[in-house]
Amino acid sequence: MSNKDSVTLIDNSTGKEIELPILHPTEGPATIDVRTLYRQLGYFTYDPGFMSTASCRSAITYMDGEKGILRYRGYPIEELAENSTFLETCYLLLNGELPNRDEAEEFNNLITHHTMLHEAFKRFYSGFRRDAHPMAIMVGVVGALSAFFQDESDVHDKQSRRIAAHRLIAKMPTIAAWSYRYAHGLPFMYPQNHLDYPSNFLHMMFAVPTEEYKPDPIMVKALDLLLILHADHEQNASTSTVRLTGSSEANPFAAVAAGIASLWGPAHGGANEAVIRMLMEIIESGKGIQHFIDRAKDKNDRFRLMGFGHRVYKNYDPRAKIIRKVCHDLLENLGDDNPYKQLFDLSVQLEEIALKDEYFISRNLYPNVDFYSGIILLAMGIPLNMFTVIFALARTVGWITHWDEMMDDPESRIGRPRQLYSGKLERKYINIENR
Ligand code: SDX
Repeated sequence: MSNKDSVTLIDNSTGKEIELPILHPTEGPATIDVRTLYRQLGYFTYDPGFMSTASCRSAITYMDGEKGILRYRGYPIEELAENSTFLETCYLLLNGELPNRDEAEEFNNLITHHTMLHEAFKRFYSGFRRDAHPMAIMVGVVGALSAFFQDESDVHDKQSRRIAAHRLIAKMPTIAAWSYRYAHGLPFMYPQNHLDYPSNFLHMMFAVPTEEYKPDPIMVKALDLLLILHADHEQNASTSTVRLTGSSEANPFAAVAAGIASLWGPAHGGANEAVIRMLMEIIESGKGIQHFIDRAKDKNDRFRLMGFGHRVYKNYDPRAKIIRKVCHDLLENLGDDNPYKQLFDLSVQLEEIALKDEYFISRNLYPNVDFYSGIILLAMGIPLNMFTVIFALARTVGWITHWDEMMDDPESRIGRPRQLYSGKLERKYINIENR
C-alpha cells in the first residue's frame, strides 16, 4: 500500500504503528477505511451522530455542504427541478439513468397500475382514533403492507426488490391521502388511472364523490416540484434507519416503516410542520422576531429556529432556494390578500435578521428544505399534520433506492455499531434483604 493511499496511525501509549487504507470517491471527501482498526489496534472509533463517519459506499446522491450542491445520479437538483417530473426522478434514482420515452411510459404505467390498496386496509384505518396523527397511521399502514406481500418479497432477488419499490412508490399517495380522509371522516377516493402522479394525489385528498374535482395546475406543478426536491438526500437519519433495518434482511415495507418513524422527528422531517407552528407562535405572541431569535440563541432555552441549520449544508440548502422562489411566485399568483402572505413575509424577515446575526453566521446556520415548504403546502390546502406525510411520500423513492443499493452491495453486512462503555464494573449480586 503506497503511503499516498493510506494514513499511518501511531498509538502513543504503546508505540504501535498501523497503516489504514484511504478509499477515494468519484467526488467529495475521501475516507479512511477503519474496518481493521479494532483487530489491529484494539480501538473502536467514537463518533456520536456520525459527524465524520461514512456508513456505506453509494452512487445515488451527491451533496457538497460547503458549496450547497445536491445532485441525484449526477444531475443537479436545480436542473431536475426545472425540467423533470417526480416520476421521471423516481426512475432516475432507481435505475441510475434518465428514461427514454418508451422507458418513461412503461414506468409511469407500471406505477399507475399499482396505486390501489387491498380492500382490507379500509378496516385497518378504522382501527385508529379519528385524531390519530397521519404519520402514526402511515407508519402502521406501511408496516402492514408486509403482511400482504410477505410471501413475494425475496430481499435477495433483484426483480422482487424492484416490484416492492414500484409498489411502495405507487401506494404511498393512496396511503397518505387515505390517512387524511379517515381523520376528516371523508370517504376514501380511489386512484384514477387517467391522472398523473401529483394530480392523482390531490384528487384522492380533496375530491368528493358528489362532484367532479379538477386539481389546480399551478398546485399540481408546485407539488410535483416539492416531491422532486424531497426525493432523496444521501445518508440522512431516516435513510440510514432504512439501511440499518434492511441490513438485517427485514422486508422492505418494514424497513420503510422504520424510515417513516425516523422522519417524523421535528429535528428531521417533522421540521416542516414545526416551522409553521413556530411562525404562528411568533405572530400570536406579539413579542416580535428578535425575542425569538434571542430564544434560539439561548442555551438554556430549548427553542430552536425551526427550518434553520443542517448537518451537511454549511451554506444555503439548494432546495430551500428553489422552494422560496416557488413559494413567492405561488403566493403572488394568489394575490395580496391571501392568508399565507403574512407567514411568507415573516419567514423572509426571520431569514434576513438571522443571516445578519453572528450566532447564526458563526455556526453556518441557513434556511433548510423545511423553512419555506410548509407555506406552499398550506396554500395547497394541506393541513399541518400532513406536511411530514408529504415528505415521507416523496422520500420513499430515496429510501427504497438506498435499500436496493445496500442489498446489492457485496460489502454490505448487518449494521451493528459498538460503544464506548461508561457503565459499572463487574459486581456481585446483592439479595434484597441486604439492599
Ligand atoms: C432535514 O440530514 C438531512 O439531509 C436531513 C434533511 C433531508 O432531506 O433528509 O435535509 C431534512 O431534516 C432538515 C433539517 C430539519 N430540522 C430542523 O430544521 C430543526 C432545526 N435544526 C436543528 O435542530 C439542527 O440544525 C439540525 C438537527 C438540523 C442539525 O443539527 P446538528 O448538525 O447536530 O447541529 P447541532 O445541533 O450540533 O448545532 C450546531 C450548533 C449548536 O450550537 P453550539 O452547541 O455550537 O453552541 O448550532 C446550533 C446548536 O445549538 N443550532 C441552532 C439551530 N440549529 C443548530 N440554534 C438555533 N436554531 C437552530 N435551528
